[in-house]
Amino acid sequence: MHNQDVINEIRKSVDIVDIIGERIPLVAHGKNYFCVCPFHDDTNPSMSVSREKQIYTCFSCHATGNVFTFLQEFEHLSFPEVLKLLAERAGIELKGFQYKKKENPHEDWYQIYELAKKYYQNNLKTAMGKNARSYLASRGISDEVIQEFEIGLSLDKKKDLTELLLKKKYDLSLLNQLGLSNQENDLYHNRIMFPLFDLSGKCVAFSGRIYEKTKENENKYVNTKETALFKKGTLLYHYHVAKEEARVKKQVILMEGFMDVIRASTIGYRNTIALMGTALTKEHISLIKRLSNQVLLCLDGDMAGKKATLTVGEMLEEAGLLVKVVVLKDDEDPDSFILKYGKERFDGLVENAVDFRDFKIDILKEGVNFRSDSSKADYIHSVLKEAVKIEDPIRIEILLKNLAKTCEIGYNTLEKRFQELKKEQGDSKKKSLSFHEIKAPKKKDKYQKAHDRILAAMLDANWTIDEVEKEHIVFQDLESRMLQSEISYYYKKYGEVNYADFYTYLEGKDELLRLLSSLDTQASFKEITKYELNDYFRVMKEDTKRQEIKRLERKMNEEKDPKVQAEIGSKIVNLRRGEQEW
Ligand code: UTP
Ligand code: MN
Repeated sequence: MHNQDVINEIRKSVDIVDIIGERIPLVAHGKNYFCVCPFHDDTNPSMSVSREKQIYTCFSCHATGNVFTFLQEFEHLSFPEVLKLLAERAGIELKGFQYKKKENPHEDWYQIYELAKKYYQNNLKTAMGKNARSYLASRGISDEVIQEFEIGLSLDKKKDLTELLLKKKYDLSLLNQLGLSNQENDLYHNRIMFPLFDLSGKCVAFSGRIYEKTKENENKYVNTKETALFKKGTLLYHYHVAKEEARVKKQVILMEGFMDVIRASTIGYRNTIALMGTALTKEHISLIKRLSNQVLLCLDGDMAGKKATLTVGEMLEEAGLLVKVVVLKDDEDPDSFILKYGKERFDGLVENAVDFRDFKIDILKEGVNFRSDSSKADYIHSVLKEAVKIEDPIRIEILLKNLAKTCEIGYNTLEKRFQELKKEQGDSKKKSLSFHEIKAPKKKDKYQKAHDRILAAMLDANWTIDEVEKEHIVFQDLESRMLQSEISYYYKKYGEVNYADFYTYLEGKDELLRLLSSLDTQASFKEITKYELNDYFRVMKEDTKRQEIKRLERKMNEEKDPKVQAEIGSKIVNLRRGEQEW
């Protein structure tokens, strides 16, 4: 079987609605399904999924494609990996299947980090790793955990790793660039080495922890440099493991450090991720959204942790996620808590996690002087501002009643002010909605619309392909002509062409893919009629004529010979009369 046939067979074996539905909640509406788009910072269901066409389209960020592209993007998998995954699911043999593998430009980087990881792991097992092993043991890190998280050790020696990698013919400049060497020497000495992984679980960096006090003022952890593969702002520790588990548990737990994540996993919490000591970014948020719409914040118990909980929680709620908070005592972090009190107590904390709004309102209470009227009034105001963000009317009533009691103020006064604030909030929401509308894509002119609809129709209703050829429809721009010819070619070769298969066929031809994605697939959800098609043809021909007249006019202006000028002139007149055949 031809490769393309195998690819198509695999694609047809699954329903895109199932695949997406297993990952994000879908709502049926008419013939299509809708969901919050996982590929941009979305809170409204902007993405539609068509069972009929087996494609998805986001009308906000214009992400579009078939089941393959969805899984590639969503799961951070390569095309062959997605093929394998779906083939297994469908029970289709991939043996003998040839896929031309794209050269990964960072292949050697991965190899280097992999070698370094193995080297560090081995060190920990040798006699020189004795003290490090007892340090880990004293922290309750068992051999299994060391194995699972691939923990290693850098030695006191000057340049063992660098020499090992140089022997493997890697460039010294690259080893420096990757943060493993410092000139000709190793960068890390005497640190416990924690490999850091990318979203698919490949080692792309290290964090080395001191375990013996040697010098003063040494950083507790030293990370390898940020590179094209390792950017703290776009990675989350343990993501590749948590992504499976978070979907099952329908919740993801966010912690501050990777030691917390490692500890939590020893008591069965594998749906945990860590920020690695950096601020939450937009990229982090969209990564978290792909795991679950429920986030449990379990940051350190100190002041810094509480502050971080407030900002991170606010950002996550704004992104439309459901946020709960586990509050630890001032000097605890999840790691120390679990070590000290064990699994059952931690389970209890998770079960009794408080709603983010309640957490915030609790914090607001700290430092209020209830004997000062202005302090009390400020407090009431800030609580009401939080209250309007709560949806559940029962919770609002309980909150207002409690507030009335603690501040010794009438419930009705509070309720009235609450309603006013709620209304103000509603007004400002409306404003921001209309702003959104302004940003909507420009209206396409009728030629552009005809152009789009004809190309889309060719993929939608294959009978139109012959019509386009018969009528000699000419697209003005090169890319559209190329797309048209690719569609015709595919159709002749495979006897059928549709959006979903064609996306995969065009892989690597980025300009054509972009053009394909820009076609308005939403509008083409109902099948085109012969009558409509002819109408678009008429518009296209009109456009072709218009362009030709423009071209001739330019030519005439440049022409010196009056005889030739006259010839061109009469051609233009004929065209204007519509006598020329097109
Ligand atoms: P923490 O200081 O909370 O680490 O920093 P921890 O998890 O409690 O570690 P232990 O228990 O002392 O071993 C949280 C995260 O911040 C980053 C690390 O990624 C760490 O996991 N960090 C911290 C650094 O990068 N450098 C540092 O010097 C400290
Ligand atoms: Mn700690």
